[in-house]
Amino acid sequence: MESSNLGNIKATAVILGGTGEAGTSIGKIFLTEFRSSFPSVRITTRDPDSPKARELAKLGADVRPLSEPVEDVFSGADVVIDALPGHLAGDYRERILGALVRKNVKVYFLSEYGIEYHITDFKGYDHDEWITKRKVAAAAHAALQGKVKVVELVTGIFHSWVYRPELGIDVKKNVYTPLGPGTLRFATTGKNDIGRSVARLSILALDPATTAAVPGRLRIAGHNVSYDEIRDIVARVKGVPKGTIRSGDLKAAKENLSKHPTDNILDYITIAVGEGKVDFSDNSNELVNPGQRFWKWRSVEEELRSPEK
Ligand SMILES: NC(=O)c1ccc[n+]([C@@H]2O[C@H](COP(=O)([O-])OP(=O)(O)OC[C@H]3O[C@@H](n4cnc5c(N)ncnc54)[C@H](OP(=O)(O)O)[C@@H]3O)[C@@H](O)[C@H]2O)c1
Repeated sequence: MESSNLGNIKATAVILGGTGEAGTSIGKIFLTEFRSSFPSVRITTRDPDSPKARELAKLGADVRPLSEPVEDVFSGADVVIDALPGHLAGDYRERILGALVRKNVKVYFLSEYGIEYHITDFKGYDHDEWITKRKVAAAAHAALQGKVKVVELVTGIFHSWVYRPELGIDVKKNVYTPLGPGTLRFATTGKNDIGRSVARLSILALDPATTAAVPGRLRIAGHNVSYDEIRDIVARVKGVPKGTIRSGDLKAAKENLSKHPTDNILDYITIAVGEGKVDFSDNSNELVNPGQRFWKWRSVEEELRSPEK
């Protein structure tokens, strides 16, 4: 990353849940490629002695126990990035809203990094994660409007979650079962690219000259890929014949889920993909990474060749 490209922002970032699946990648990217813009990066954890927390501390993170008063954790912070689990009960998050205002934090990222659950339709049997996320987002917007800029970054499915039979992608059997035609597309983004996107959006949102360009909710797609293309990728990478596409019955799958709701969010996401609701052909990639000037978006083919750590 050319630090000269990053502008003049020198800011303090706090990453809540900085040792998690999303949080670790966000933290590492802030501490390395975007360090010149974020000389101070704090992460919160329940266990500052865990191997993950120590690894981040070695990279320069200021590791804070989650039990520390939130006012202290937010002191002098410009941007707070929530990467705690989506299902985490709203009370912790509601408690931090007042502190964001009192400590003059300028930008707050909600823990999103998923799909557009606002446009899905699972009335009466929705997944808990999305029920909680809706409540958390509504509370944040109500408490922070006009005081702290709230950003919801929607990224599609993490690359690391794509090659899973529950999503209709069974690499071992070389069988692909979309709930519709193989041309169905869905958005997927690598975790490091999510970190880069959060960093770039933070810089844009903190700079008075560009803050208005950052919408409250935006989506990116490192790779907007179809089941047909994934079948071809598997054939190329694994050196196997092109596998079978078996189109499943979307209506029957949805009816079944409504009668027998599950905890597995991929059961819901597969239906949302079948309904075309995870196709992010229309996205904000150009705002975040114009002309791929800052990085080249990682593809799911690269993920299959070499899974991101
Ligand atoms: N689009 C996708 O495919 C996808 C995939 C995964 C996640 N996501 C989204 O990414 C966001 C972050 O999820 P994640 O999976 O990265 O989170 P995670 O790894 O489950 O949790 C993040 C961190 O939060 C802390 N934590 C966990 N449970 C906690 C609890 N009960 N109380 C307090 N702290 C707790 C843990 O840190 P310590 O143990 O160090 O305290 C953990 O490392 C969510 O919004 C999720 O929906 C999206």
